[in-house]
Amino acid sequence: MNTLTSERVAAVLERLHRESEAADRERMETFMAAMAASGATPEQAAAEIIASERADYRAVYRGYAGNFLAVSPAYGRFLYMIALACKARRIVEFGTSMGISTIHLAAALRDNGGGQLIGSELEPGKVARARANLATAGLADLVDVREGDALETLRDVGGEVDMLLIDGAFALYLPVLKLIEPRLRPGAVVLGENAFAPDYLDYVRNPANGYDSQSLPVDEGRGNEFTVRVA
Ligand SMILES: C[S@@+](CC[C@H](N)C(=O)[O-])C[C@H]1O[C@@H](n2cnc3c(N)ncnc32)[C@H](O)[C@@H]1O
Repeated sequence: MNTLTSERVAAVLERLHRESEAADRERMETFMAAMAASGATPEQAAAEIIASERADYRAVYRGYAGNFLAVSPAYGRFLYMIALACKARRIVEFGTSMGISTIHLAAALRDNGGGQLIGSELEPGKVARARANLATAGLADLVDVREGDALETLRDVGGEVDMLLIDGAFALYLPVLKLIEPRLRPGAVVLGENAFAPDYLDYVRNPANGYDSQSLPVDEGRGNEFTVRVA
C-alpha cells in the first residue's frame, strides 16, 4: 500500500476524475467536433489556442473557471512514479486547477518522506477547491498553492527544484521554464503536459540549452514532453 492507493487518497481521486469528466465532457466534445470538422491536427488546434492566449491568457482561462482540464488517471500515476523515481523533495507545478495532478505529486512527496509542492493557479475559485481537495486527501501540509499569475507567484520557489510540471497556459511554457531554470538541479525532471508551443519544444530539444528531451508515449496525441536537466 502506498499513499496514492490508500483508501483516503484513492477515494478523493476517483471522485475528482468523475467530476472532471462531467464538468469537461461538453466542452471537450465541442472542441473535438470542431477539430474534426475543420480537419485541423492537434498541433494546428494548439496553435490557435496559443494565438488567443498570446492576446490575453487571463481571459482565456477565466472562460475555463468551471473546468478541470485535468491530467488522466494514467498520466497522474506516471507523475507519481516519476516523483518517486527522482526522490523529489521540492516540486513546482504551473497550473493546479482543482488539484488532481497536485494530489498525485503530493502523494509521492509523502512516500518520499516529506517535502514541498509549490503550485500556481490564476483562478481564485480553483485555488479554494484545490486546497479543499488536498485537505480531504490528507495532503494539505505538503502543498502551497499560490493564487495569481505563475510568472509572479513562482518567482521565489525557495530552493533547488527536483521536478517541474508545466500544465498551464500553453503560451507560457517557455517563460515559466526560464523562470524556474536557475533552480533546477542536475537530473531534475520537467514534464510539459500538452507541450505544443513550438518555442518551448525547440528550446528543450536543443542540447545547447542543457536539456535532453523527447515526447512521451503516455496519453499519445496530448503532446506530453519528457525533459531532463543535464547541465
Ligand atoms: C490544464 S489546467 C491544469 C490541470 C491540473 N494540472 C490537473 O491536472 O489537475 C491549466 C490551469 O492553469 C491555470 N493557469 C493558466 N495560466 C496561468 C498562469 N499564468 N498562472 C497560474 N495559473 C494559470 C488555468 O487557470 C488552469 O486551471
